[in-house]
Amino acid sequence: MLDIFYNRRSTRKFLDKKIEENKIKKLLTAALLAPSSKGSRPWEFIIVDDPALLAILATSKPHGATLLKHAPLAIIITGDKTKSDVWVEDCSIASIFVQLEAEALGLGSCWVQINRRYYNDNITSNEYIHEHFNIPDELEVLSVVGIGYKAIERPPLSDCDILWDKVSKNHYQNRTDFTIPKECEE
Ligand SMILES: Cc1cc2nc3c(=O)[nH]c(=O)nc-3n(C[C@H](O)[C@H](O)[C@H](O)COP(=O)(O)O)c2cc1C
Repeated sequence: MLDIFYNRRSTRKFLDKKIEENKIKKLLTAALLAPSSKGSRPWEFIIVDDPALLAILATSKPHGATLLKHAPLAIIITGDKTKSDVWVEDCSIASIFVQLEAEALGLGSCWVQINRRYYNDNITSNEYIHEHFNIPDELEVLSVVGIGYKAIERPPLSDCDILWDKVSKNHYQNRTDFTIPKECEE
């Protein structure tokens, strides 16, 4: 499991290659297996592979969404705010489950943040996506995860990236014996 965690890096450039149907099913299976508060499973997912719709998603905010234009697949991750007061958390877990399954399937992915982001001064990214995808009011869009075969293999994270000083034991800032390897300190 940790290998997947080290290897998962955000992918923003994809090969022009379709994702097989059985892999798409596995990505959604991972999402639908995600835990949720009180088991309420407030999420709903929209799979997008139509280039015209991907282009719309890519313009859902001024920065950080353009990668979706050339992704072969995006999954819009929505949560029903009437079913859970913690739909943000529930949808976040579903988003990362999709990303980790993507890595396990040899695919790359990137989370595009939609909740609390703006299309322009007057329209939220959530409203913009609602308008184009006919999404009912009770569903809020948390994220759009872009997925595809990686055009560039980014170096995996290493033990030098592990910030052990963020970990305390029993009392805040009471350090553990876990430390960054010596070879990283230079
Ligand atoms: C909550 C969240 C929101 C993010 N939003 C975006 C985004 O809108 N656009 C984007 O290109 N990357 C986005 N990312 C990806 C982060 O930029 C990326 O995970 C971070 O820089 C660490 O790099 P890595 O994923 O390669 O380890 C988001 C990641 C998270 C967890």
